[in-house]
Amino acid sequence: MITAHQGGHAALVENLYERGLLDSTWRDVWLAVPRGDFIPDRIWRQAPDRCVPVTDPAEREQLIASDEPIVIQLDDGAAEGPGIATSSNSMPSMVARSIALLDIEDGHKVGEIGTASGHVAALLSERLGSERVYSSEIDPALARLAAANLRSAGYAPHLSCSDGEWGWPNAAPFDSILATCALRHVPHQLVRQIRPHGRLVAPMARDFWSGALVQLVVDEHGVASGHFHSGASYMPMRSHRVGDGAPVDSSTARQRQSAVEPHELLRLDFALYAGARLPGVRMWHTEDRGTVQVWAQDRRGSAAMAATGGEVWEYGPRSLWQAIERAYDEYTDLGSPGAEQCGLTVRAGGESFWVMYPTRIIEPMPHIDPELRPARGFLVP
Ligand SMILES: C[S@@+](CC[C@H](N)C(=O)[O-])C[C@H]1O[C@@H](n2cnc3c(N)ncnc32)[C@H](O)[C@@H]1O
Repeated sequence: MITAHQGGHAALVENLYERGLLDSTWRDVWLAVPRGDFIPDRIWRQAPDRCVPVTDPAEREQLIASDEPIVIQLDDGAAEGPGIATSSNSMPSMVARSIALLDIEDGHKVGEIGTASGHVAALLSERLGSERVYSSEIDPALARLAAANLRSAGYAPHLSCSDGEWGWPNAAPFDSILATCALRHVPHQLVRQIRPHGRLVAPMARDFWSGALVQLVVDEHGVASGHFHSGASYMPMRSHRVGDGAPVDSSTARQRQSAVEPHELLRLDFALYAGARLPGVRMWHTEDRGTVQVWAQDRRGSAAMAATGGEVWEYGPRSLWQAIERAYDEYTDLGSPGAEQCGLTVRAGGESFWVMYPTRIIEPMPHIDPELRPARGFLVP
């Protein structure tokens, strides 16, 4: 069901303002940039298990005035596909939170990765002037849509149909860069394009968790470091998508009792920690009438499923659930640090995930196959 704000766009903006997500400057910016001007004719609502087409004009207006994402592309635009959302006009509260983390001031120059509908590029252009905004979109059809939307709204930011992972080297340095697609790792070439004390804000997603906003501040040596903020569910950057793992051999099934209640594992703070300890292990869950089922799978054919009550089924060569229980024990021994106490440091040699202090680096469990580590690794020598 859609929770729309009576009063359309103005009421939506007022709601963001009252929730403390916009200051008065940004409230005026949002009021000047109606979301509806950036929404194409074909749209879908994101239901928990699928994308539902929105064809009824009243429902469309409601969705536009709601704090919900609006899916604007399925399956990279392919005519026949499984119906997976590959582009959206993001959830307004998430856009407001991300932009606030950029700490934008007059005169700043900002880059955006993932133009999609053009709405964020328009907000940035309204605030800073189009000439100070750069935005890239990898999908040609969406890049054309964004260009047309921005033109009719009277904005002319620097647009490119390109892989935003590489930024805009010829336009650097930027005061800040915002990714509006989820990164698995932060490409260091983006950090290099940000001036000292500038910011990089991005939703990040790893195998164990599906999304959290990170705000990194760049130092004089080209090292970017900062904390995670709220959860943030975004579609992945195209080159950061992961394929399916090896199939699981169900004849290897064995059963035991879990030492941890499965729903405890669903907290973002634990998931961030476990993602650093168990790279390559994917976790997801289902909920039905009070029963939670948690699934975990690695890319070498091991899997585990645990349900409320603690019964665990494991499959494949490795005891995946035991590794998860171990990560959970370690995490509680550390005092169960919240998501905002977790952080990331990015430098030329790779990334490190830390809790509490940048020096308290969380390394992958030793038995994790190096092949399964994320492309740039978590470890900084
Ligand atoms: C959630 S949408 C962005 C929403 C957008 N900022 C808006 O205002 O509507 C994410 C977009 O990132 C794009 N994208 C994915 N990988 C990309 C890449 N490597 N470079 C540029 N854009 C990318 C997708 O095609 C998609 O349109």
